[in-house]
Parts: sequence; C-alpha cells; structure tokens
Amino acid sequence: MSEVPREESSGVDPASTNSSEAGACEGCEAAKSGGRRGFLFAAGTTLLTVGGGLAAIPIVGVAIGPAEAGDPNRWISLGKATDFKVGETVLIKFTNPWDSPTDGDTNENVCYVRCIDHQTFQVFAVTCAHLGCPVEWFAQSRLFMCPCHGGVYYEDGARASGPPPRGLYEYVWRVEDGSFEILGGRLPGLQEST
Ligand code: FES
Repeated sequence: MSEVPREESSGVDPASTNSSEAGACEGCEAAKSGGRRGFLFAAGTTLLTVGGGLAAIPIVGVAIGPAEAGDPNRWISLGKATDFKVGETVLIKFTNPWDSPTDGDTNENVCYVRCIDHQTFQVFAVTCAHLGCPVEWFAQSRLFMCPCHGGVYYEDGARASGPPPRGLYEYVWRVEDGSFEILGGRLPGLQEST
C-alpha cells in the first residue's frame, strides 16, 4: 500500500501567516491604487499638454503666418508691358502673394488691365463698388456691367449708372524694366473709402 505523502510543516502558525498575508495584500491594494492614480494623473497631464499644443498650432499659425509671409504689398509681374495691346482691356489672372498653405484656389485672383499706351495703364478690381459682385467687361459697348443690380461703369472705371456709389476700385501699378507690375497683396474692394 502506497503511503500518502505528508505535508511538510513550515513551522509557522497558519493563523499568523494568513494575518500577515492579509496585511500585505492591503498594502498591495493601496500601492496599486496609488499607482493607478499616479498613472492616470500622468496620462491626463500628458494628454492635456499634447492636446493644448495641437490646439494652439492654428492660432500660432494665424498669429505668425502673415509676419512670416512678409509685406503683403509686393509687386507682382503680369507680363511685359508691351504684351498688352493698346486700347484693349483684358482679364488677367494672378496669385495673391499674401498666402498661406490652406488658401488653395481661393488665392487665385483676377483683375482687368486697360492698356492706354505701353506706359499708361489702369488696373481694375473685378468687384462691383455696390455690393461686390464680379463685373464683366463688354468690349463692344466698352462698358463694365454688374449682373447683380445693373451697375454700369465706363471703360475708365468711372460709374456710369445704377446703384454703385463710385467707380471701380483700382490697383496700384508700375512699369519696371519693361515689366508690368501691380501691388497684389491688398485687394482693392469694399473696404476702401468711397
Ligand atoms: Fe453690382 Fe449691386 S453688386 S450693382
């Protein structure tokens, strides 16, 4: 008959063992609880710091963006002065130099260039001086007309009829070394005084 092995005695009172284990476990729980709180606090602080930093990026970008872009009133070449035909008014596309990476196509602009001679020009904003609708040039009648409320302008931009309180807004231009240039950063428009 095989003998059942006897448990070896550790020489420690089981009651006292249970008591000290219970005490140790309480300590463990407290330590675990404190560790969790510490971990959650650290995680929360980190998330707040990272989140706050990310949220601040657009604000900082807006604040420093224009400063980094420099003076918005930069000269933009629209081509050689002699490329324009004397007596003609044409629609020209240009990119606003005061841009930011999020502008996309909204940074593309147009203006009307009237060539009187190769040293004398007028450059008109397309925005009507009434409420800002885009005006259109009609070469046959030599008039700019606004589709919104019937505003009409002469070829020199002066108001002809309708609700606009003034003539078309004009860009500042120059001919520099044969290059025809406008100050393109600040778009002339309704913010101008009448
Ligand atoms: Fe051009 Fe009113 S917006 S006439």
